Amino acid sequence: MLITIKFPTNLFLVITIFILFSCQNEEEIVFENEEIISALPTDIISPSDNPYSEAKFELGQSLFWDPILSGMKDISCATCHHPDFGYGDGRSLSSGINGEGIGPNRIRGTVIKRNAPTIINTAFNGIDVNGNYTPSSAPMFWDNRASGLEEQALLPILDHDEMRGPNIAAEDILDTIVNRLSTIPAYVTMFSIAFGDEMINEDRLSKALATFQRNIVANNSRFDQYANGNVNALSNAEIRGMNTFIDVGCANCHSGPMMSDYQLHTLSVPENPLIEDDGATGNFDFRTPTLRNLNFTAPYMHNGAFNNLRDVLRFYADLSRGNGESQNQNVALNQIARDARNLRLGNGEAEEIIVFLNTLNDENFDKTIPNEVPSGLSVGGNID
Ligand code: HEC
Ligand code: HEC
Repeated sequence: MLITIKFPTNLFLVITIFILFSCQNEEEIVFENEEIISALPTDIISPSDNPYSEAKFELGQSLFWDPILSGMKDISCATCHHPDFGYGDGRSLSSGINGEGIGPNRIRGTVIKRNAPTIINTAFNGIDVNGNYTPSSAPMFWDNRASGLEEQALLPILDHDEMRGPNIAAEDILDTIVNRLSTIPAYVTMFSIAFGDEMINEDRLSKALATFQRNIVANNSRFDQYANGNVNALSNAEIRGMNTFIDVGCANCHSGPMMSDYQLHTLSVPENPLIEDDGATGNFDFRTPTLRNLNFTAPYMHNGAFNNLRDVLRFYADLSRGNGESQNQNVALNQIARDARNLRLGNGEAEEIIVFLNTLNDENFDKTIPNEVPSGLSVGGNID
């Protein structure tokens, strides 16, 4: 100690300085940003007309993996939402009917115009910065066109390219599927345990699929641990990255526990050469995606335009540099969201942000692959 303490005033000063310093140190380690980004809830809310039960989850899991839900019995939900690919499919654009294999190696399948998002944490889609969400109206898809996992679940089955195929009309496919399920004794038993009687219908089909998906969560990333009070869960570099993420303006859209405002924005992501996509309202606008578990779900954006996070950050830097420049010839500069053009992003910031994004991964999600499905068809469809 350099200061010799002769006078009480000096002592007072030293103590004051000490207190000031210790407060500052504390400020560095206390999580201050919970009004912008925060931990995911530890419990999951279900809609009041579709409460959770283990029987419903198990039925939903079987249905999710069973190609019996597709017109030609060749493709299942899990073909495009597979645990090996973080419940996406690891492809730029998804691959539908008539295909063979899985992930980037899948061949011949009909090209779907969008990238398959993960189903992990879709329980929390629409969650706001205060942690509130309504499961029955949770926004689904890159354009938010479906509300809730229950409504979403039947849409891939109805879609010609994803699951229905050419042989069965859209107005007949759900009846066909229900009839098929009703002739399989194991399903009759499972439906009756899950719903109280043997009736099988579209409503119950969607409820079981939704219950399964709602309970595939990964809500204990190191960021969650930190935000819940474990100050040692993140390193200083990761905390710096988090603050940079907020300071440069990413969190103006990537906010709340999912790091998404669930709003539509126009960014000018380059078109995929295979297919043009003008977005939700024809304005090349897409929903802000979650930034959780990015480690498992490359490539990124609605059309898989970028293979890695560095390319995503380079895109944002090009967009915001100077007065910004559109990265998509269909999109005029003044169509692009102001928050995206006004990012304060250089190379140093980009590296720091990537360090932070890596704290949002939680490896610990349910990766169960059933040994068999009740139809006896191949598990997951034509994927081996
Ligand atoms: C051929 C591949 C494919 C199949 C099969 C498929 N999906 Fe998807 N899934 C996608 C694609 C692509 C999207 C994004 C579509 C869009 O945004 O327009 C998507 C979106 C979703 C979403 C929305 C996630 C979010 O955060 O918005 C859910 C949930 C989902 N699928 C569940 C299912 C279920 C349940 C099944 C089976 C009944 C299924 N999918 C079958 C490719 C597929
Ligand atoms: C104006 C709102 C907005 C701002 C600001 C913004 N984003 Fe995004 N982000 C989006 C939207 C919308 C998409 C999807 C765009 C698309 O697919 O066409 C997206 C996509 C992404 C993706 C791809 C995720 C995936 O699963 O495909 C990453 C990563 C990302 N943003 C990170 C960032 C980072 C880091 C920043 C700050 C440098 C940032 N974003 C700033 C709205 C925004």
